[in-house]
Amino acid sequence: MNIRFNLNGEDVDLEVAVNKSLLTVLRANGIFGVKHGCESGECGVCTVLIDGVPMNTCVMLAAQTDGRTITTIEGVGGEQMRGWKGSEPLHALQTAFVETGAIQCGYCTPAMILAAKSLLDHEDSPSEAQVREALTGVLCRCTGYLKPVQAILRAAAMLRGEEVPPVFEEGAVPAPPGLFEPRPDRDEQPADSARGDGGTMLKTTPMPVMVVAEEEKPRDHVGKPEPKVDALKLVQGHPAFTDDIEMRGMLVGKLLLSPHAHALIKNIDASKARALEGVHAVLTYKDIPRVAYTTAGQSHPEPGPHDNFSLDNHLRYVGDRVAAVAAENEQIAQQALDLIEVEYEILPALLDARDSMKPGAPILHDEPESWRIEDPQRNLAAVIDWELGNCEEAFKTADYVFEETYYSPKVQQTPLEPHVVVTWFDENDRLIIRTSTQVPFHVRRILAPVLGLPEKRIRVIKPRIGGGFGVKQEVLIEDICAHLTIVTGRPVRMEYSRAEEFAASRTRHNMYLTLKTGVMKDGMIVANALYNLSDTGASGTHAMTVAGNTGHKAMALYNAPNIKYHADIVYTNKVPSGAYRGYGVPQGFWAVETHMERIAHTLGLDPIEFRLKNAIKAGDEHPVSKIWSEGREGSAEYINTCGLPECVERGSEAIRWEDRYGNETWHSVPGKPHLRRGIGVAMVMQGTAIPNLDMGAASIKMNDDGSFNLLVGATDLGTGSDTVLTQMAAEVLGAPPEDFITYSSDTDFTPFDKGAYASSTTYISGTATVKAAQEVAKQIKEVAARMIGKQGDPVTPDDLTLRDRSAWAPDGRSVTLRDVALNSLHAEAQHQIMAVGSYVSPESPPPFAAQFATVTVDTQTGQVVVDDLVMAVDSGVIINPMTASGQIEGGMVQAAGYGVCEELAVDDTGQIVNPRFGPYWIYRSDDVPRLTTIFVETYEESGPFGAKAVAEIPLDGAGPAIANAVYDAVGVQIKDAPLYPEKIWRALQASSASQP
Ligand code: FES
Repeated sequence: MNIRFNLNGEDVDLEVAVNKSLLTVLRANGIFGVKHGCESGECGVCTVLIDGVPMNTCVMLAAQTDGRTITTIEGVGGEQMRGWKGSEPLHALQTAFVETGAIQCGYCTPAMILAAKSLLDHEDSPSEAQVREALTGVLCRCTGYLKPVQAILRAAAMLRGEEVPPVFEEGAVPAPPGLFEPRPDRDEQPADSARGDGGTMLKTTPMPVMVVAEEEKPRDHVGKPEPKVDALKLVQGHPAFTDDIEMRGMLVGKLLLSPHAHALIKNIDASKARALEGVHAVLTYKDIPRVAYTTAGQSHPEPGPHDNFSLDNHLRYVGDRVAAVAAENEQIAQQALDLIEVEYEILPALLDARDSMKPGAPILHDEPESWRIEDPQRNLAAVIDWELGNCEEAFKTADYVFEETYYSPKVQQTPLEPHVVVTWFDENDRLIIRTSTQVPFHVRRILAPVLGLPEKRIRVIKPRIGGGFGVKQEVLIEDICAHLTIVTGRPVRMEYSRAEEFAASRTRHNMYLTLKTGVMKDGMIVANALYNLSDTGASGTHAMTVAGNTGHKAMALYNAPNIKYHADIVYTNKVPSGAYRGYGVPQGFWAVETHMERIAHTLGLDPIEFRLKNAIKAGDEHPVSKIWSEGREGSAEYINTCGLPECVERGSEAIRWEDRYGNETWHSVPGKPHLRRGIGVAMVMQGTAIPNLDMGAASIKMNDDGSFNLLVGATDLGTGSDTVLTQMAAEVLGAPPEDFITYSSDTDFTPFDKGAYASSTTYISGTATVKAAQEVAKQIKEVAARMIGKQGDPVTPDDLTLRDRSAWAPDGRSVTLRDVALNSLHAEAQHQIMAVGSYVSPESPPPFAAQFATVTVDTQTGQVVVDDLVMAVDSGVIINPMTASGQIEGGMVQAAGYGVCEELAVDDTGQIVNPRFGPYWIYRSDDVPRLTTIFVETYEESGPFGAKAVAEIPLDGAGPAIANAVYDAVGVQIKDAPLYPEKIWRALQASSASQP
């Protein structure tokens, strides 16, 4: 049918199919600012304004827009975007989003801005609650919503013509209580099963509280809240993501997924599908070579089981691959899938890890091709076993022994951008894989044998990524899309639906964790033993290394003389577990930190003093370092820096621990006896990269105008790593970040990097960048010394400093970087000023943090409302406080999710019962807790500019801190996350029934 509508101010006349969604039609017409995140109108990243009202385009037919006015992000702000020279052409909302660091991956940003625009168009002075309400229809997995809300309030002030405070003023260090100012008339208003905005007023500047390291020197770019280098394109919705391209002749790839948890394909007949007009290929296990590989994107040689096949006749979970189709369009591809006839032999399914090793349990991986499986006959993907000292002997002499089993659930990473890949052959018959991945170099290396192509015939391009959180550290759908391109010779695009993302990607490993701890009367821990039964699902991807990290980090914080760790990582007929931000450590600390609370509570010890008394300190040997490292024997590492005590001090102040802990008045809510308030703490540590294994590299090339190309293999998945690496290079080379053209990553053009995982980019890729920049600086100074020497007395390169886009001699003579570049490229001793830096670290200095939470519990329903999350973090020197605090805020909210409301549940047939954003609840803008971030800097000598990692540690503490706050509020301890109301209600009933 023909429709006419106004799109961003221009009348459009279109012929559309009646069944096409508006999302499909807009993207097909090059409006890439509107994104796909789900198909049910629940995530909101496809939001546009229809006659000024935010609407989800994935659930709206294009035909419904006839005669309407549509505004997309492309219609917000001026039209002269590509000639952008300042902030004028941007809408105030776009400017504020850039200034406040409200953009991380940027996938939700266009929708957020449109939703906010709709609010500000009719409300010029909105409250924080109104802003949060306006954003409820748009989910964001990265930011925790704090900075977007700040940005919108800031934009509102700008639009009212008010002067807004600068985001950052030199010398101004925000002090506790942090980002929130008390609202005297409303302070201490009780929450009543909804947080509301009572008691605080949000500041519109995004800087966290900073306690600056004494060793830190004044710097020009490092330590400053520089805007993200990719912010402008993201805030305008430019086509930056994997799927934001058009290619002539591109086919649509789709998968037929198993409806059974465990089955064999007895017969499969694809003839009708192949005969369908518009179908170009149908692949089953009979059509491609059977190559066992791992989907885990890890360095060579990957240490885990190689138990995955592109297609197999043995189906091991609901969502496993049965067949793949490439067709002219989505509709034909779906019809083809429906025409594939499959006869299944249904096998008994294993749905609980506690059954996996039992005699007679169904065997999941008895195929001869798979390798590096610990014991296939017992469904044992991997085993870890180590001990320091002798725990059993120590338990005999301990005054008290505590033993409990805890459970950490299966949760999904849920990046708003699903897995998406486009593959094609270029003019040289090389296979191009454009993919949303955290590990482009691992993708190329791992896929080469799977596809039967040499690595040199494969090029992997990583554009912007719409979030990953570990789930894109998998080689997940690149293989099957590439197979379809190889068979058809055509470009193929493949993207997961949201249901497929839940059912057929990866999750966090759910774990049963049994912790046994021996304690003396004085509160000293003498022995700590953890048994971890980890559920890797149907594939052993990351099986051993995730569980290894659980022991390596969570069992190292309390540095007892006897520590023991054993992990059995077993197969079940569930969607495979894999990498998820935190990589096993959140599960470990869920057990350790709820266990420590139980011990302190039972023995009447102060929970903070008890923890600090036993916690590892600067100068201590990392107890696990010499025993275990990614499945290999490690080497002794020492804790160079540990800011944990000061984190506790600063965090306690911010959460007002002294006023609240043990204060009955604060715990009760006047006039509401069914409500109880509680306060909790958890202390955590992580790692910074994998020592002696993972390598990163960067190259820097100087251009005629004195600008630089910074090429990094590192993968910015929204974290801001491109920005942070640019700041480091800028600091060394004395040029502002805007003089750098930063690009990541492409296996043809950027140097190798292991990718974005293990909290390593700032530390590893940062050191590589600094090394490259130092070599470039050396070359610049050689040329500059020669040029300056011609102006008078000779100078040596070592005499010069680089700053303000120039090289300076001590006597004030200078030459600009532009003149240096022109001289080197065109005039004298001509050569290209450029260098490559690489780095692999011999150590992994841990960041530390103290996480605090306050909650309100409804004792009649068991509902928990998380009121406050305060995290004080020692991540070494913070290179960019704005991007780093965004990491902490978003990470805390993700962690609160697994503590309170997230669980990917399966029924007794293995079907996922909540494969949508509606029933799989992640925090929205209006139910997220108040968030405060405090950075307590230490100066880590081994890191670039003193930095340690920041990305993963926020995932470790919020869950147990919330559980401990609930324990404090109502006196019952829930050992299995998440803290669903029903669990708390039942525990309260059981507790009151047991009272005399
Ligand atoms: Fe919102 Fe990434 S910035 S989903």
